[in-house]
Amino acid sequence: MTEQVTILDFGSQYTHLIARRMRELGVRAVVQPYSIPLKEISDSKGVVISGGPQSVYDKDAPFPDPGIFDLNLPILGICYGLQVIGKMFGGKVAHSSAREYGKMAFEPEDEPLFRALSHPTTVWMSHGDRLTELPPDFRVIGRTENSEFAAIRYKNIYGLQFHPEVTHTLEGRKILKNFLYSICKVKGDWNPSSFVRIARSEIVSKCGANRAVLAYSGGVDSTVCSVIANEVLGDKFTPIFVDTGLMRKGEVDEIRETSKELGLGVKVIDARKRFLNALKMISDPEEKRIIIGREFIRVFEKEAEKQNAEYLIQGTLYPDRIESVSDVGPSHLIKTHHNVGAIPEDIGLELVEPLKDFFKDEVRKIAKIINIPKRIYKRHPFPGPGLAVRILGEITKERLEILREADYIYVETLKKLGIYDSIWQAFSVFIPVRTVGVMGDQRTYGNLIGLRAVESEDGMTADWYHFKKEDLDLITRRIMNEVEGVNRVVYDVSSKPPSTIEWE
Ligand code: XMP
Repeated sequence: MTEQVTILDFGSQYTHLIARRMRELGVRAVVQPYSIPLKEISDSKGVVISGGPQSVYDKDAPFPDPGIFDLNLPILGICYGLQVIGKMFGGKVAHSSAREYGKMAFEPEDEPLFRALSHPTTVWMSHGDRLTELPPDFRVIGRTENSEFAAIRYKNIYGLQFHPEVTHTLEGRKILKNFLYSICKVKGDWNPSSFVRIARSEIVSKCGANRAVLAYSGGVDSTVCSVIANEVLGDKFTPIFVDTGLMRKGEVDEIRETSKELGLGVKVIDARKRFLNALKMISDPEEKRIIIGREFIRVFEKEAEKQNAEYLIQGTLYPDRIESVSDVGPSHLIKTHHNVGAIPEDIGLELVEPLKDFFKDEVRKIAKIINIPKRIYKRHPFPGPGLAVRILGEITKERLEILREADYIYVETLKKLGIYDSIWQAFSVFIPVRTVGVMGDQRTYGNLIGLRAVESEDGMTADWYHFKKEDLDLITRRIMNEVEGVNRVVYDVSSKPPSTIEWE
């Protein structure tokens, strides 16, 4: 059996980042609700108590079962996790008016958790409450200028006031590695092919001998799900591609070809009229997303009925869930992803989401292992709601056509310039504003196209891509010369946060 470390989720935005860092270090880390019964985690090699937004003095503050400290497992409390440990062992936690936020110099003691760390090392803090009195028996194993108790320890119970999982903590990876290998004594038996095993067993255990349909989009997530489902369910499974009319130029033909190449037998449903009718006169981004999510499900239900299928397999990823609804931690709604928050409550299908705990780059690793062609796993992400969230405001046929042309030229030029693979995601946006220009000797009053290109690891944060001036110039000139009705192009230089990657 694969070794496992349990992360008890107290609602931090970073909880899954801890799991992901541990997987990168060769260990299977599983995020569980903080209230999970102890017997379900007793065979873990160690436990992490995550951060969280609450104060240990809140009326309904969450605490782990105190029995966790009798399991004799190594425990690492991070941020709120440290405060939980401090309070439960008799120390004092207080709210400090000066919130400690950002990079700090941390002085570690000579401890197994901090083996091979620099003195001082940079750590990243984000907390309001702090430990003000050490619990009896605990000792301090690291400090910052503002935090006397930045790291504490009692036997194999450790607490860190900072976040080792974020990259701003420069040697956070070393700290997590020390915790796993020196303190939890793991061997490190998790590798990228373990992902495939997990995804396979998720499909088999959920679907059993029943029939399933799969939401196929042609992107890496649903292609990975399809190849694995095809292998484990065989003819009890049908991947379905819904042509919403919101796809990019040439995309539907490409999807047919890939489906053939991978032997997937994807069924293409022409739902263009249905989607465009449902979106008529709709301008609000959230309304668009809810309508699209609902229409997708209605199409899948209809197809599932024909196939006698009860299950819908989707390539939902972890970031889709954290930004879309609050089923993971107390995160706020950022935008309703079509395949998560926009699913109608009366859905007549059981959802199976084998990739729901993974990040995009992890799924790309799976794709490589199962021999999915490079052009698919290197493809930039494309959102399920398609061009509907890239046309700001109302969606019309004319706007779709202009955007399709502009985006095609943009992406084609990036490929020709050899920079497509060094960009995480690039696309065009139709901005419903007209501006004045001059072509030949004529005045024009034309459309505005926005260009977006970002660098990112997993889509959770992103920086705008720094083009060479001549590359951006070439792209812009091509769009203005070749797309009728466009007389101005702008480049988006916003990072996420505070912006998001898509404009809607
Ligand atoms: P944002 O705009 O939230 O996007 O910064 C992060 C990543 O998610 C993609 N995205 C979606 N993908 N359904 C999807 O399948 C959606 O509803 C959706 N909304 C955003 C976006 O393209 C980016 O890669």
